[in-house]
Amino acid sequence: MINVDLREALEFVDEGEFKSALDHANSAFKQVVEGTGPGSDWLGWRRILAEPNDAEIDRIAQHAAKIREDADIFIVCGIGGSFTGAKAIIDALNLPFNSKGPEVLFAGHHMSGRYLEQLMKYLQEPKSDGEPKSVYLNVISKSGSTLETALAFRTIRKWMHEFYDDANKRIIATTGETGGVLNKIIEEEGYSKYIIPEDIGGRYSVLTPVGLLPVSVAGVDIQTLYYGAVSEYEHLEKDPETVLEYSAFRYLMHKEGVALDVIGSFEPELMGFADWTQQLLGESEGKEGKGLFPAVAGYSTDLHSIGQMIQQGQRNMMETLFVVDSPLSQFKVPKVESDTDQLCYLDNKLFHEINKSAQEGTVQAHHEGGVPVVKILIEKLNAQQLGQLIYFYELVTAVYVYMLSVNPFNQPGVENYKQAMYRLLGKNDN
Ligand code: PA5
Repeated sequence: MINVDLREALEFVDEGEFKSALDHANSAFKQVVEGTGPGSDWLGWRRILAEPNDAEIDRIAQHAAKIREDADIFIVCGIGGSFTGAKAIIDALNLPFNSKGPEVLFAGHHMSGRYLEQLMKYLQEPKSDGEPKSVYLNVISKSGSTLETALAFRTIRKWMHEFYDDANKRIIATTGETGGVLNKIIEEEGYSKYIIPEDIGGRYSVLTPVGLLPVSVAGVDIQTLYYGAVSEYEHLEKDPETVLEYSAFRYLMHKEGVALDVIGSFEPELMGFADWTQQLLGESEGKEGKGLFPAVAGYSTDLHSIGQMIQQGQRNMMETLFVVDSPLSQFKVPKVESDTDQLCYLDNKLFHEINKSAQEGTVQAHHEGGVPVVKILIEKLNAQQLGQLIYFYELVTAVYVYMLSVNPFNQPGVENYKQAMYRLLGKNDN
């Protein structure tokens, strides 16, 4: 289960106010459970954990296993909630520099022509044995019309149809049940399709085929991941204390005028997860002039950049740290004969222990510098606990955003840039 440590945070709030905020959080939690809050048509991310669809999870795992046998490259083409979740899980659970299984690449998450041009060149370059690469493409878009994704999809699929006789079986689409341009293309071309349920928004969709197919192709055990989330769901339905405490604390920070939540970790593996929470929180709470800006910091790297600002800049922030208790590896500092580099005091020490000291030192320093620090604790970084962490954050987001009297499930502001961009591009609305 996910634990929350508020020891370096609670002294920044009044005890009585915290108690009232907990009551407020409990009412918001009830709104989520009873489906009585704004946007309650969008609670499918809870429904799928209450009634797991094992047949669909199996179908995805079997399809992914076949792709793994044949693919050199698997491209995930999507943006926002249609790619951050998969990336978060793959970054967290796959070993760096590990070449087992297909290489997972991302596209459709920005509009860089240079990136796409180089990607196309890379796909077309033969392997070291002179054979062509075997490429699969998963286009993911609930609306089926997001420009970044649609342009990358058009580019890659045009080449795939020219290059492979069996392009139709190599292209897999994940989208809404009906409607949208993508569904028309799927019908015309006969691509395999996975459905994103109507009642689940993009940033809450990681445990649907949106996230499950790519991570399964990457070699993640999706049953374990999924049932990790189910176990956290079942636990929090009975005992939501951790969610209430964290939500109540964030709410009080917001009320006191804090502007930023710096979300970070000393485990680089969790930075993709921090990006996922950034989107989840940012698109859910940043409305009606409200919300804590979710800023992401990767430690200890960023202690040598924005760490200065966190320590001594404007006092308008709180911090959330993802902490993994067990070592991710047993790698030690090598022992050498001479102490010229003056590091012999660390001979044979686990990097995990050194990292932990850096983390504890940073928590102390930030706390003393006037920054409340909340630690979100997991014991081990594995599929089960990552599944738990995913549901924990989905629920925290819904509860805390309800406390602000905001609908966590829409994103009306995202349309503004699109309208301005389409005007500039001369898009015909018909
Ligand atoms: O959370 C959301 O709804 C958004 O971030 C979407 O996921 C993102 O805009 C991509 O949309 P679509 O899947 O329709 O292409």
